[in-house]
Formats: sequence, C-alpha cells, structure tokens
Amino acid sequence: MTINPYDQIPYPKYAHCESHPRVLEFMATMFGMQPCAINRARVLELGCASGTNLLPMAQEFPDGSFIGIDLSEKQIAAAQSMAAEASLDNVEFVEGSLHDIDDSWGHFDYILCHGVYSWVPAETANEILAVCRRNLTPQGVAMVSYNVYPGWHFRTIVRDMMLYHVRGIEDPNERVKKARGIAHFLTENVPAGSAVHAVLEEQCGLIDKAEDGYLVHDQLELHNHPLYFREFVQHAESAGLQYLSEVNFAAMLASGTPPAVQRAMAGRSLIEVGQYLDFFQNRSFRKSLLCQSEIVIDRSLRSFSLDQFSLVLTGQPEPLDVDLLSSDAARFQMPKGGVSAGTPLLKAIMVCLSEFWPQSTSFDDVYEAVLKKLPDSCRPNKDDGREKVLQLLDTLFRTGFLDAALHPPRVARMPSDKPLASLLARTQARYDSSITTCRHESIQISKLERQVLMQLNGQSDQSAIAESLQRGVSPDDGLPSDEISMQQLVTTTLEKLGQWALLVE
Ligand SMILES: C[S@@+](CC[C@H](N)C(=O)[O-])C[C@H]1O[C@@H](n2cnc3c(N)ncnc32)[C@H](O)[C@@H]1O
Repeated sequence: MTINPYDQIPYPKYAHCESHPRVLEFMATMFGMQPCAINRARVLELGCASGTNLLPMAQEFPDGSFIGIDLSEKQIAAAQSMAAEASLDNVEFVEGSLHDIDDSWGHFDYILCHGVYSWVPAETANEILAVCRRNLTPQGVAMVSYNVYPGWHFRTIVRDMMLYHVRGIEDPNERVKKARGIAHFLTENVPAGSAVHAVLEEQCGLIDKAEDGYLVHDQLELHNHPLYFREFVQHAESAGLQYLSEVNFAAMLASGTPPAVQRAMAGRSLIEVGQYLDFFQNRSFRKSLLCQSEIVIDRSLRSFSLDQFSLVLTGQPEPLDVDLLSSDAARFQMPKGGVSAGTPLLKAIMVCLSEFWPQSTSFDDVYEAVLKKLPDSCRPNKDDGREKVLQLLDTLFRTGFLDAALHPPRVARMPSDKPLASLLARTQARYDSSITTCRHESIQISKLERQVLMQLNGQSDQSAIAESLQRGVSPDDGLPSDEISMQQLVTTTLEKLGQWALLVE
C-alpha cells in the first residue's frame, strides 16, 4: 500500500487571508452578483489539509456551516481534534477523495480549493471544476489557486534539478535535505552572471525560507502541472463555469505597470490583459474566482462605491507621526510597498486609517476622522469633500493598499480591561507558535506571546494575567520575576497582540 505523502509530512498550517469567503463575497458583490451573506453561508473546502483555513471561519460564523475534505488521514484527524478542542460544532472534516463528492452533498455558497489543482493528476483537476459546477449554488463563488507560466518555467528549472538529485530516495525528510543541498551546491558553482545562475539564486532564496512541508509537496511532488492563465480560463469554461476575477482586484489591473504597458493594454479583453500581465510580472501563482456560466457579470462597476463597505488598510503602515501641513511628501511604508502622500488630505486619510488599524471602519467614520484631523485651512469643502476622500480611497483600493468588505472581522483595536482572544487562537497557542489572527493571517509568535494569549479568556484582567505568568516563570525563561516589570511586559505584549489582530471585541 502506498503511503500518502501528506501523512508522512503534513502540509504547513496556513490560513489564506486573501481567499477568505469575505473576499469572495465582496468581489462577487462588486461585479453585480448577489452572493450569500458569509455569516450564514455553506462553505466547502477541497484539500483542506489540517483545517487551519476552515476552522477560524467556522469560529467566526457560528450560523454558517463548513465542510472540509482531504485524502490525508493524519491531517483530517488533526483538524477534527482541533475542532473538538475549540468546541466548534458547525464544521465537519471528511477523510476521503474529492472524487467522492456528489449531489448528495448539496449546494455550497462558497467552494475553496487552495493549492490542489496544480498538484494532482489531470482527472482530479477536472473533478475540482466538476464539483464547483455541480455543487455551487446559482450565485455561488469558487476560489481555485494554481501555478502559472511564465513564472513556473523558471521554477521548473530548479525543480527538475532537485528531482533528478533525489531520484530513488523515498524518505521525504531525506529528499528535502538533499534537495536543499543540490540547490545550494549549484548556486555556488554555476558561473555567476549566467541566466541559470540568476534563476538558481532567486529560487534558492525561496527554498531557504520554505518549510520542509512546503518544499516536499509544492516543489518535489510527482504532480506539478502549471498552465497559462488563458488555459485555466478555458478549462473552467469547458466545465460550465466562468472566470469572475482574481481574489485581489489590484492584481487584475495594469495600474501599477509602466505607462507603455497601460497603453498597450487599453481596449484588450479581461483575459488578454490578465495573460499579458502575467508575462510582464513573470507571475507564478494565481488565486482565481469562478462562478456559474449562466451568471451575467457586470464589470462596469457603475453601481460600485466604497462608501457601501467596511474599509481597512492592507497592513499597518509606518510612520504614524506625520506633519500634515508640511509640503514634503510623506511615505507610508506598508507590507506590500509604499504609499507616497503629497497632500494634507491624503496624509490625513493614511494617518486616520492607521489609527483604526486593525479594525475595519465605515466610510462615514473615516471621513469624520479625516475632517477632525485637518485644520480648517486644509479641510475639504462641504460640496465635494466626500467625493474627494472617496476618490483617494478608491486609488488606494485599486493599488492594493485598501481592503473592503461587507462582513469585516470582529477585531478589538485596544486591549480591554479583561482582554479576549478567540478560543481557537488560545487552543492553537497551546500547541504551536503559528496562530491565525482575526484577519485570517497565519503568524508566528514567541513563547511569551503564546503564554499571554492562552490567558485571554475575557475573565482575567492584566494583573491577574501577570500573576498567573509569574507563577509559571522558571529561571530559563528570561522573564522578570518582579511584579511591576511583569505587568509592563504583559501590557506591551497585549498591545502587540492587538496590533496583530489577535484580540476580539
Ligand atoms: C498542497 S496541499 C494544500 C493544503 C491546503 N489547501 C493549503 O493550501 O494550505 C494539497 C492537499 O490536497 C489534498 N488532496 C490531494 N488530492 C486530493 C483528493 N483527490 N481529494 C481530497 N484531497 C486531496 C492533499 O492531501 C493535501 O492535503
């Protein structure tokens, strides 16, 4: 009997924030669909691994229902045990093949399939789309992620070298070790300045950062079948589906490309633009949304306006301390690049949004905060003030610095008297340093942060948390033994947990 490779080395535990159903709900709404409200939706995840993506959704939406399916016995057992420990009874994990899904499973408002389509035989890739066609509701939305060319042409060069070097080796741990070794050896010994050296150097950087579980599966699996974006769209169409969008609207636009590219894209179809952008950006991965072929998608965005949604920056920017009135532009550094703000109005918008972070907020609240922030001389006038702020927010949105949602996560900005973290996050902290935030991101936290997080049951105040930690302190922990220093440490740790969106209201 062949052993499932995911039972030998489980896939790393990731929550995929960009493909949370709130993103699918928002994108579908933006393009004129009437998707089911995510707080009462039926959600199916194909290839759910250890449930790290699905469990936080089940916790966030107690009135929703969630099913995950995966072939790997070990991963499904881990998912089931975490669901039980976190007292989640609206989520079910099924050990089995997605080929077994039939009409009896009913219809789902959202189907998620992350990191599976490219890593399975062709008949399973076909079946993923068949399940989406058969089991999506009429207004349902599916997210399928996959490897694309041209980016994967470069990755394949190094994958093939590693696969050749590990030929005949069965033990996955040994395969990973040898694969890392050959990637380094080649990078060090292939002539610098050659094209292949540049590829090796770039790929080696990625391989060094990757966990073993990622390398053994994403890079060294037997199946890895990238394709061109246009081919994926054709595949979806042949299954009775249609391409709706990417999870990230900014990734569909040529707005970040040089003017010559933008001119060349004018008048081209959505799919052509997507394909050319993959060439320009050497893209290797896509997260695409699909819907039933019968849906009439409204791409005009005529009735779309950000003032109908909750808004939040895509990351906490630096700096917060900005001279609004100075004529110098302020650069707000964000995780995915920087926003350069030359006017007091844009500076004020960025500062206000930073102050709301990590909470989402309505347009009206942003607008009011911006008016308060600016002195009379710079305040936009009543007639077109709202419109001006809305336009600037729209630019931030189209360039990937602002997220919008109908059902934002419930996040506390500041630690309350008796801070609360979700039961799931507290349970995760017992076993692991990888925790899922309320923004549905997987982050790594330290031992101390885990210890504090585990205490956040909404019943204990900061002194009680400090006392409890102090009782468990051992000399090796390097933690302060006096009460005041411990209290200060708890306060700063709570502030950090708040900024990382680990505290709930
Ligand atoms: C690369 S992992 C991705 C895991 C997770 N979706 C993520 O992105 O974090 C692929 C997963 O698909 C599962 N898988 C592969 N073929 C499957 C099938 N026919 N039916 C159900 N699950 C399958 C594997 O067991 C594995 O857990």
